[in-house]
Amino acid sequence: MLTYKKASLNDIPIIMDLAERSWKVTYKDIISAEQIEYMFNNSYSYDPLKNQMAEQGHTFLIAYEEENPVGFASFSLIGKTTFKLHKLYVVPETQGKGIGRYLVEAVIREVKRLGASILELNVNRYNAKAKAFYDRIGFEVYKEVDIPLGDFFLNDYILRKKL
Ligand SMILES: CC(C)(COP(=O)(O)OP(=O)(O)OC[C@H]1O[C@@H](n2cnc3c(N)ncnc32)[C@H](O)[C@@H]1OP(=O)(O)O)[C@@H](O)C(=O)NCCC(=O)NCCS
Repeated sequence: MLTYKKASLNDIPIIMDLAERSWKVTYKDIISAEQIEYMFNNSYSYDPLKNQMAEQGHTFLIAYEEENPVGFASFSLIGKTTFKLHKLYVVPETQGKGIGRYLVEAVIREVKRLGASILELNVNRYNAKAKAFYDRIGFEVYKEVDIPLGDFFLNDYILRKKL
């Protein structure tokens, strides 16, 4: 059975573990090893995660299969009624079993309660699997963007779903 809960600061080690198991493998054929290391350290180590939760108002949801954490999502308000899905990761062993959809549906329920009309996200243009997943669950391309980040670029689509 799948369940989810809103994460607190105490859950950061669980999120770090899920990210460690799912993030690097996702991007190994998409971006350079240097960029993987840079982005991972900047977004998925303890202090950045704490900052996102405590200072930037990001809500994290952790999905559990029985009692095992298997994925997480994070979101925040970015416009009047626009929310951004910042992160969505399911560990490789349990991908393709409906957990990604379950987490996005949970995020949609949470943000709708807060008055959302649009859910937006960035996905790497070369992350074909994630793009196919988002197509399947009803997101559409809103824009293409190339965002400088340190010595690197994020070559992303911005996708949106009207709620
Ligand atoms: C992308 C990701 C979150 C999807 O989660 P998931 O649990 O594997 O996907 P689900 O099983 O919930 O799939 C939901 C639907 O999308 C479809 N889908 C999933 N992956 C797909 C793919 N690669 N190609 C085509 N369709 C796909 C499924 O068939 C399913 O369709 P259905 O509900 O109509 O049967 C997950 O694979 C993941 O964590 N990937 C690595 C990290 C990543 O890229 N995150 C996104 C960063 S922006």
